[in-house]
Amino acid sequence: MRVGIIGGGQLAQMTIQAGASLGLSFSLLALESDESAPTICPDVTRVKDFNYEALAGFISSCDLVTFDHELVDPAILENIPENVEKVFPSAGTLRLSANKARQRDLLATFEIPIPDYFIVTNGAEMARAVSKIGFPVVAKAAHGGYDGRGVFYLESEDDVASLLGALPQDFELIVEERLAIESEIAVLVARGRSEESIAYPVVRTVQVDSICNEAMVPSGLTAELEQEAVRFAIEIANLVDAMGILAIEMFVVDGKLLVNELAPRPHNSGHLTIEACSTSQFENHLRGVIGLPLGSTELLVPFAAMVNVLGGDEPADLEGRLAAALEVQGAHLHLYHKSYRKGRKLGHVTVVGEDPNETLQRARRSVSVLLS
Ligand SMILES: Nc1ncnc2c1ncn2[C@@H]1O[C@H](COP(=O)(O)OP(=O)(O)O)[C@@H](O)[C@H]1O
Ligand SMILES: [Mg+2]
Repeated sequence: MRVGIIGGGQLAQMTIQAGASLGLSFSLLALESDESAPTICPDVTRVKDFNYEALAGFISSCDLVTFDHELVDPAILENIPENVEKVFPSAGTLRLSANKARQRDLLATFEIPIPDYFIVTNGAEMARAVSKIGFPVVAKAAHGGYDGRGVFYLESEDDVASLLGALPQDFELIVEERLAIESEIAVLVARGRSEESIAYPVVRTVQVDSICNEAMVPSGLTAELEQEAVRFAIEIANLVDAMGILAIEMFVVDGKLLVNELAPRPHNSGHLTIEACSTSQFENHLRGVIGLPLGSTELLVPFAAMVNVLGGDEPADLEGRLAAALEVQGAHLHLYHKSYRKGRKLGHVTVVGEDPNETLQRARRSVSVLLS
């Protein structure tokens, strides 16, 4: 079976790594920029953007197509008749989960707890939202933002004016209170073609400058909150008709869960499932979209910590530091074949162990050695 992946980032790389063990072959539709997955995939089509011709040709050349990211226009997919039997998750799921405003509206309709929010598409709506919420507020691009790009913290009218000045004519933002977040978690749900769902153990994530930096499991939340998080996650996976992995990010504020956003694909919070769980998120994504039986999501270790290798102020020689980083006992390295850019996700390290603090410290040490 030839599985196509739209997008060539590290999620595609790790999906291909998992799929190779299942005997699958892969084709990639990747942008003409330096990306991860083309370095390990012999069949790559390079395009300037994901336009109709590019997508239609690619879909017809594959048995089945899935995604590395959700930055594909669902309207284009819907115009390609073959999408219905070949593209998973579906264009409809993509439409719901690729736009933060549509996500919030859907979750609000089904009374899933979310932060109070305003959808803002012009200056007057922005003024109204800001006056209702009061500074500080957070404004987020409804579409196209990721890894904190598209998240704006506004402290004053000057910040509002400069953001509005920098946005294109037809923008869409969600605007909300700057929340006092106690902790952030993510729940990954694997959902199969026959609509069965299983959740992974709840992962705690730590963001620095709005970008995920660390993930760990177990989350440390109470059993009640974890159970509630899983209940919301499965309900959402059914609502959006997820296929393969759906990631649901949540905040804990005042001891209560608020759903932040969804991603219809493998997710940074799930990288540790490669070492920590019976079946990795990448393998289960493939099993789900292809229609193979889902694998157990059981946690096999007492604790696992993942730390991202984020490009720092100075370029680092990751290859030259490989041996030193592997000196750290139990460090599992995953490098993404990407060139250095400040803040860019260049790889990650996972360590599993008994003691949460010691395990996390080892993962951090391996990453700091890599970047030193
Ligand atoms: N309302 C908020 N208040 C405080 N922090 C926020 C708020 N919304 C987002 N953040 C922070 O920014 C991060 C990224 O925001 P998110 O909406 O998940 O966008 P992205 O698509 O970039 O992941 C969150 O994980 C959280 O740390
Ligand atoms: Mg997020």
